[in-house]
Amino acid sequence: MTSVNDLRSSFVDFFARNGHEAVASSPLVPRNDPTLMFTNAGMVQFKNVFTGVEKRPYSTAATAQKCVRAGGKHNDLDNVGFTARHHTFFEMLGNFSFGDYFKERAIELAWTLLTKDWALPRERLMVTIYQDDDEAHALWKKVAGLSDDRIVRLGAKSNFWQMGDTGPCGPCSEIFYDHGEDVWGGPPGSPDEDGDRWIEIWNLVFMQYEQYADGSRTGLPRPSIDTGMGLERMAAVMQGVHNNYDIDLFKALIAAASSATGADADGPGKQSLRVIADHLRSMSFLVAEGVLPSNEGRGYVLRRIMRRAMRHATLLGANEPVIHKLVPALVREMGQAYPELSRGEAMITETVRLEEGRFLKTLGRGLQILADESRDLAEGDVLNGATAFKLYDTYGFPLDLTQDALRNRGIAVDQAGFDAAMAAQKAEARKSWAGSGEAATDTVWFGLADKVGPTEFLGYETEVAEGEIKALLRDGVEVSVLAAGESGIAVLNQTPFYGESGGQVGDSGQFKGEGVVATVTDTHKHHGVFAHHLTVVEGELRVGQAVELIVDHDRRSAIRANHSATHLLHEALRIVLGDHVAQKGSLVSSERLRFDFVHTKPVTDQELAAVEDIANAIVLQNTPVETRLMGVEEAKESGARALFGEKYGDEVRVVSMGEPTGNALGWSVELCGGTHVRRTGDIGLVSIVGEGAVAAGVRRIEALTGNAARHRGNANVAIVNSAAGLLRSGPHEVLERIEALQEQLKRSERALSEARQKLAMGGGTDGAPQGPENVNGVAYVGRVVEGLQPKDLRGLVDQAKKQVGSGIVAIVGVAEDGKAGVAVGVTDDLTARFSAVDMVRAGAAALGGQGGGGRPDMAQAGGPDGSKAQDAVAAIRALLG
Ligand code: ALA
Repeated sequence: MTSVNDLRSSFVDFFARNGHEAVASSPLVPRNDPTLMFTNAGMVQFKNVFTGVEKRPYSTAATAQKCVRAGGKHNDLDNVGFTARHHTFFEMLGNFSFGDYFKERAIELAWTLLTKDWALPRERLMVTIYQDDDEAHALWKKVAGLSDDRIVRLGAKSNFWQMGDTGPCGPCSEIFYDHGEDVWGGPPGSPDEDGDRWIEIWNLVFMQYEQYADGSRTGLPRPSIDTGMGLERMAAVMQGVHNNYDIDLFKALIAAASSATGADADGPGKQSLRVIADHLRSMSFLVAEGVLPSNEGRGYVLRRIMRRAMRHATLLGANEPVIHKLVPALVREMGQAYPELSRGEAMITETVRLEEGRFLKTLGRGLQILADESRDLAEGDVLNGATAFKLYDTYGFPLDLTQDALRNRGIAVDQAGFDAAMAAQKAEARKSWAGSGEAATDTVWFGLADKVGPTEFLGYETEVAEGEIKALLRDGVEVSVLAAGESGIAVLNQTPFYGESGGQVGDSGQFKGEGVVATVTDTHKHHGVFAHHLTVVEGELRVGQAVELIVDHDRRSAIRANHSATHLLHEALRIVLGDHVAQKGSLVSSERLRFDFVHTKPVTDQELAAVEDIANAIVLQNTPVETRLMGVEEAKESGARALFGEKYGDEVRVVSMGEPTGNALGWSVELCGGTHVRRTGDIGLVSIVGEGAVAAGVRRIEALTGNAARHRGNANVAIVNSAAGLLRSGPHEVLERIEALQEQLKRSERALSEARQKLAMGGGTDGAPQGPENVNGVAYVGRVVEGLQPKDLRGLVDQAKKQVGSGIVAIVGVAEDGKAGVAVGVTDDLTARFSAVDMVRAGAAALGGQGGGGRPDMAQAGGPDGSKAQDAVAAIRALLG
């Protein structure tokens, strides 16, 4: 038997042997299309290659592509479990030519693989073509030798393929397989074509056009090929079974579901088991890509899938969460082909378990209400919209779950009534906004939130994605175009740009579209609407346009590292300082991080070193950083750190990192909506660069990570090296050398001052006679000292007074700039006769100065003209009579 895994590789190998590049599956959340909810075909990742916008180093390719069809143009959710081959998740095998080969080679390759390599009997195959595609008709005859009755012409509905409302498209040719006459059904185009006997196994699309939103179409640069083969259907053919759910992969999943619920795989619960097996795949793959259940956009489709599976589990009698127990079975089957499943196994299990716990709390009560409200309804009746809305709003029943639950009784749901109830609730919410006071300043944003809806944030998983411009603002007013040179704000349906919140700064980067380039300088978030502040550099930005959104990668990487490091420092501070360390605020930018916390005294150097060591030990563990979605209460119960007094939504992201010690989820566990590194090692290094007080009882630390930390370390080393150069020492002797120099400097200063004193007492620098002069019976010491600062004068005068015992001392100091200071001292026994103040004034006057102040025994003054120093000494002496 050819297993699903063998078949997948056999397909890709065949095309690789025939010159095709084997390309990995792209993500389920398309990065290159703003209009698509999920990747729904193999060609999605090549969309821009077909139109010529993107170049790849190969012109032919083959893939096994994971696809979800549960929302948007191709939505199979409601059929799953009830038909033989509808799935929400499936794999599409495909080969592609980007302007390389066209119809003939495509038909040749397909026919060879099916009839030679896989040895399918030719008589079981037939094909359809687009009604006027005579070329395809001729080629099928030529290449496969099919007779006319085996080539059916059909209209655009079945034989013109397009990915969505826009994008590459073209006529197609489908290959059908006959499951044999014991299955009911007829060939394509016949009245019984809906039966399961003839099954389409491969669609060859002859890509020729690009479809635009306005309905117009242009030719592609070169005709191309896009093919799609459902792996599960093909496996059914190869394994000789008729129903996709009977192939090896599904049998294994159904067996796991059967043993978890106790339901017999062939019993009355068969359909529910199939729904569970199918939904298990889509939910696991979506969660593995970082989509988490929510009430908006993609997250809501995921939630609907999860809750539908959960309800089917309860139909099988399960009262406890069981779906999450099936994840290991899926990983066993598909983990090898899709390593993201194996890597994410714990995360997926946990996310599913949490959603089950949440939903099971209200499911029973909701089903009871549904039973009560529909008791009197009969086939053909309609359940009122108000009840459906109550089930949605209070009991978490997505509308399609209510519809699903009533379907087998032939009861419909009043969708208009449901929509009206939903609209009324929104209007109520708007009223309360309007009264909140915030509204006055924020009318534009409330208006936009209402009109275009919240922006879906893709930036946890990707830094590049396409988005559609929903609104443009210039000077706060809505406009339809922003031209080159103009600045304004753009709002899109989805974005990888992070809007400033939770202390983390907004992203910057670029928008690029056909003929337009804009630079995004900052991103903010207002009531769920992301505001991209930008300047158009080239071309013009228009509402309705699809543009590629490119986040500045280096800047975002630095921000991620700083944010994750903030969590590590928070935990490390608690360990070192104690549990009172509660977060008071934080700032996470690309350059640095700042973290404010409750602590009453300065953090010592040793404590800071310990905090830094602990944080870096977690960096070195290099373990994955994980995010879970939880109810807010549940998150707090799990021990996750939350900001006291912060308002959180019903559901919160819980970010954990580091090997668990106390808390089973991780070493650090915090409620956080920010963006984080993938593994702690991506932080590189944490370096605390500052600590201080911000308010009473609140301290702040600042830190750097990664390259910023390294650059700072390097800069500091460079300073030490230059200092060592100047000191002519090795870097390690720098401190010793500076201490020695300081000591030497002190000694020199002391020696200098002693020398000056001696000089002053000895005769100054002017060669005056030693010792005091006797002037009319009074001992007078009059000196001029060069290079003396005014501040040193008093000390010298005091000393000289002591030496003289009784007398008068006048010292004139001439500083290097030529100005002079003069101080006069009079010993106490003489103050009755002489005043130092009068004498110093006479000295100052000689120096060209004025005034002077002090006491009778000591006074000081100055003057601009140092060359008159001797005159000053003489002028003072003259006062002695
Ligand atoms: N893109 C084509 C399909 O999905 C092959 O059927």
